[in-house]
Amino acid sequence: MPPPSRLLALAAFLVSATALVPPGRKGMPNQNAPGPNNTTAPMPDNLLIVQTASQVDQKSGPSVNAPPNASIPPTTVTAVDGTLTNTTVADAGSSRRRDAGWLSKRASGFEKLFDGLYVGQHDASIEGTAYLTYTVVNNATYNVQACLDWCAGINGCVFVNVFYEFNNFLLDFVFSEKSNLKCAAYGDIHTAAEKTNFGGQASYPQVGNESVPLTYITQSSGWGLNSLIDPTTPAGYEPVFGPTDGANNAPGYMGFAFIDKYDVDACAQLCNTRGVDPIGGGCAYFNIWRALVDSLPTTYTCSMYYLVADESTAVNFGQGDLVVTYSRGYSRISVLPDGGFEGYNGPGCSDFCFTASYSNWIGTSPPSGNWDATIFFYKPYARTGNGVALLGSADGVDSKIGTLTPAKKLSTRVGTNYIIQGFFLSSFAGAQLEANAKVNILWNGVRVGGTSGFTLAWTFVEASVVGTGNDTLSFVGGSVLAWTFIDDVFVYAA
Ligand SMILES: *[C@@H]1O[C@H](CO)[C@@H](O)[C@H](O)[C@H]1NC(C)=O
Ligand SMILES: *[C@@H]1O[C@H](CO)[C@@H](O)[C@H](O)[C@H]1NC(C)=O
Ligand SMILES: *[C@@H]1O[C@H](CO)[C@@H](O)[C@H](O)[C@H]1NC(C)=O
Ligand SMILES: *[C@@H]1O[C@H](CO)[C@@H](O)[C@H](O)[C@H]1NC(C)=O
Ligand SMILES: *[C@@H]1O[C@H](CO)[C@@H](O)[C@H](O)[C@H]1NC(C)=O
Ligand SMILES: *[C@@H]1O[C@H](CO)[C@@H](O)[C@H](O)[C@H]1NC(C)=O
Ligand SMILES: *[C@@H]1O[C@H](CO)[C@@H](O)[C@H](O)[C@H]1NC(C)=O
Repeated sequence: MPPPSRLLALAAFLVSATALVPPGRKGMPNQNAPGPNNTTAPMPDNLLIVQTASQVDQKSGPSVNAPPNASIPPTTVTAVDGTLTNTTVADAGSSRRRDAGWLSKRASGFEKLFDGLYVGQHDASIEGTAYLTYTVVNNATYNVQACLDWCAGINGCVFVNVFYEFNNFLLDFVFSEKSNLKCAAYGDIHTAAEKTNFGGQASYPQVGNESVPLTYITQSSGWGLNSLIDPTTPAGYEPVFGPTDGANNAPGYMGFAFIDKYDVDACAQLCNTRGVDPIGGGCAYFNIWRALVDSLPTTYTCSMYYLVADESTAVNFGQGDLVVTYSRGYSRISVLPDGGFEGYNGPGCSDFCFTASYSNWIGTSPPSGNWDATIFFYKPYARTGNGVALLGSADGVDSKIGTLTPAKKLSTRVGTNYIIQGFFLSSFAGAQLEANAKVNILWNGVRVGGTSGFTLAWTFVEASVVGTGNDTLSFVGGSVLAWTFIDDVFVYAA
């Protein structure tokens, strides 16, 4: 290992030998590695969404054999990126709120939305989306009030279908309530156009050669609110817009999932567990909306994005028979302020400048080090925007290792899991000289991840940590001529 003075001389020699102009003197990178931009970032595949919506069947109601009072199943994913699935949303995790966020704010004001047919006439019950569960109520009278009271105690119930079901052996003889007046709860509002279950099933046992009486339905009425209720914002997110009748048509699209009810918490979970786009990074935003097909509720879409969108791009109102309703956007909260270094624009600096520190970030050099951790305002160096951080002597005069840290400790929640995500680029001096590039990510002084070696393009890196309520994040590295740029760092609750 040569003494530092020799390394310094070596570095200076290499700078001149390769005619390498260092970043601090506005040198051009060896490799041009542009970040994602609005012309190249992927847009939603709206045609695939429409096609998939025509394939899913999320409509149901109480089946002839189902016992009353079953617990409400967890939200199910019915399609992912155009492929039909049948999985529950990985949840029950600690980050999921106990009061499920979907439609949880209960409003009074149930009204009759449609009547049943006259007594004695055969009718049909609802088969619709977001079916939750059913009960039976005392059938001495047409007991709507008991049904509404029961619905009021069910999280997410915004609509009930009340009807008699005859010739159901289980209702007549097996289930303890001895009532055939069914009360079915839904998490979406349905219309008489969705009365499609006419019964006609054999429920009674076959006795000898007598024909089995078939089930039939009478007096099927609907009661509900006149609009869905505002959901509670999921933990780790903030609302961006909605409800509107426009879905986002925005860059940075990662894909979509259909779920079986309007459940913003489930969408948040899907975004958190979506995985990573190698160019764009992790999911930073989701758009939830309800699809009407031929005016009937059909599915609930979660579209996920690595770029945060807003209402200005919520301009997809539907295609063909599909109409967008109840569209809302939510962005993921990063507990790290200014992870894109856009807060730095030095006084009078409109094109090129750099600093060791500004209000949001502090770069430090070891004793006698020179600009070993810096923040630049210079578009050609930045992955997005103008701001970007640099580890390694900005003017290329020493090979000491710099440390970059946020000006304030991160206010995390004690015991909560977080994920640090960021982009690193070690290409400035070319493949050979950057082979030694190395940056460690430290969490309260302990290494939790990092990057090393030459990278041709901005490279996504992530690391998992646990919050202590007052955490220090730092990036340590760079050793000229192996510079590393850092941009677009996020710290999300996992
Ligand atoms: C976006 O990126 C492409 C390819 O990297 C590039 O050709 C284009 O000029 C960029 N557009 C903008 C507006 O930066
Ligand atoms: C895309 O464009 C919007 C506004 O046009 C801008 O705010 C956003 O920063 C751009 N995103 C990228 C990655 O360039
Ligand atoms: C089902 O729920 C209804 C309404 O809450 C109640 O009256 C009935 O006793 C319950 N039945 C069973 C078997 O728990
Ligand atoms: C999904 O899977 C569950 C459990 O295996 C099953 O009960 C249900 O019928 C399935 N639903 C569909 C639509 O296939
Ligand atoms: C009430 O329900 C029981 C059990 O299904 C049935 O036997 C009875 O006929 C029903 N009464 C009326 C008035 O529908
Ligand atoms: C049913 O069976 C009985 C005795 O086996 C017979 O008398 C009767 O004709 C049968 N009825 C029909 C409809 O086949
Ligand atoms: C966070 O740490 C700093 C320095 O270690 C200390 O002064 C401060 O009181 C701590 N704050 C909390 C909320 O623990």
